[in-house]
Amino acid sequence: MTNPTQPNSQPNAQPNSAHVIKNDPWFGSYASRAEDMRASEIRALFAVASRPEVVSLAGGMPYLEYLPFDELSELVAKMLREQGTKAWQYGSAQGDPHLRERILDIVRLEGITDAQADDVVITNGSQNGLDLITRLMCDPGDVIIAEDPNYVGALGVFKSFQTEVINAHMDADGLIPESFEEAIRGARAQGKRVKFLYTVPNFHNPAGVTMSIERRARILEIARKYHVLVVEDNPYGLLSFENKTYPALRSMDAENVVYLSSFSKIIAPGMRVAWMIAPPGIRHKLVLANESSILSPSNMSQMTISTYLDNFDWKKQIEDYRGMYKSRCEAMDEALRTYMPYCSWNKPKGGFYIWLKIPEGLDAKAMLPRAITARVAYVSGTAFYDTGEGADHMRLSFCYPTEERIREGIRRLSTVMDDELATVELFGTAKHDTPHEA
Ligand SMILES: Cc1ncc(COP(=O)(O)O)c(C=O)c1O
Repeated sequence: MTNPTQPNSQPNAQPNSAHVIKNDPWFGSYASRAEDMRASEIRALFAVASRPEVVSLAGGMPYLEYLPFDELSELVAKMLREQGTKAWQYGSAQGDPHLRERILDIVRLEGITDAQADDVVITNGSQNGLDLITRLMCDPGDVIIAEDPNYVGALGVFKSFQTEVINAHMDADGLIPESFEEAIRGARAQGKRVKFLYTVPNFHNPAGVTMSIERRARILEIARKYHVLVVEDNPYGLLSFENKTYPALRSMDAENVVYLSSFSKIIAPGMRVAWMIAPPGIRHKLVLANESSILSPSNMSQMTISTYLDNFDWKKQIEDYRGMYKSRCEAMDEALRTYMPYCSWNKPKGGFYIWLKIPEGLDAKAMLPRAITARVAYVSGTAFYDTGEGADHMRLSFCYPTEERIREGIRRLSTVMDDELATVELFGTAKHDTPHEA
C-alpha cells in the first residue's frame, strides 16, 4: 500500500512501520516498491554473529584463508602497471571478452559445451543478475514460481519488483515436478501471468538438497510445455562432495534457460564478479539492462579475476575447497547426530548449508536471542519465507568456521535446544497450550 502523506505538508510525519527510519523527512515520498524493503534477517544478525566469541553458523561466507594472496597481489600489481589504462577505464556493458572466454572453460565442467563468449554477460555478483532478469521479465503482479524455502536474496529482489512469488515444493531430490506444474496451472487458472521458475538446483540455499538428474529433464519438459522460462541460479554447482558434477539445466536446454553463476563461492566474493548465459534475445536485453543500471561491470574486478584464472590452477583450488567444505559438512553432521539426535536433516552432497528441522513445539526465531546469549548464531527458517512460515527450521552454515568451532557451535546450540525442550515439556508450547484471553 502506498502512503498518501505528502512530504512537504507533513515533514515530520511519524513512520507507522518498524522498518522505516524515525523522522525521515522523505517518509511518504518513496515509491511503493520501496515500502517493503527491509534488512534480511541474515544481515540483521551480521553484527552480532561476527563477534569472535560467537560461533557463527549463520552466514554464507566462503573461507578464504587458503587463497594465494601474496603471489596474487604481485600479479595484480603487475597487471595494473602494464594494463592500468584499461583496468581503470570504463568497459563493455557485456563484460570483458577475455573473461567471458575463460568462463566457457568453467561452465564446460557442468556440461555446457555449446555456449559462446557472446552468450555470456558479466554482472556485479549473481545478486545483480537476479535483479536484471527480474527487471526484464516482470511487471508488478506477475508471478515467479520459486522453491520453498527460497534464497533470501532472491526473495528481496522479487519483492522489490512487486511480483508475486508462488512456492513449489521440494523433497530430498529437489524441486518436485508435479508441484511445479500445479503452481503454473493454479496461477494461470486465476488469470495470472507466470514469468519464470527460479531454481537453485545444486546444494540448495537454504535447503541443502540437489535436484536429481531425472527431475531436471522433467522440469525442463514442463517449462517448455507451458512456455515458462527457467532461471537457474547455480553458485554452488562446482562445490560437490562426491566425485561428480551435476549437469546444468542449461546444458540440457539452451533456449529456455537463463543460467547464473558466480566467482563468489568458487574463488571469492569481494570482486563481485558473476555471469549469466542466456538465449540471444534475452542476452541482448540483459546487456541493455546492465548498461542502463551500471554502464559497465568493473574492469578492475574482472581483470583481477582473469589474472587469477590465467596464473593459478583454479581447478585445483576448487578441488581444495571441495575437500575443506566436505570435512566441515561431515563435522557438522556428526556433531548433530551426537548432540541433537531429535532433529532431522538431509545430509548435503555439496555446498554450504544444512537445513535443520527442529522438534515440534520449538520456534527457531524465538530461540535465536537465547542461542546468541549462548554464543552461537544460526539463521531462523523464517528468513527464507515471505509468509512467516519456517519457524520449525534453521539454516546452519558449515562453510566458515573450522571443524572444531563447528562442533563447539553445535554443542552450544544443543544446550539451548535442550533447555527449550525441557520448558516445552513442563509448560507446553505457547502455540498449542496457552489459553486464549477472550
Ligand atoms: C543461491 C544464491 N544465489 C545468489 C547468491 C549471490 O551471489 P553473489 O555473491 O554472486 O551475488 C547467493 C549468495 O549467497 C546464493 O546463495
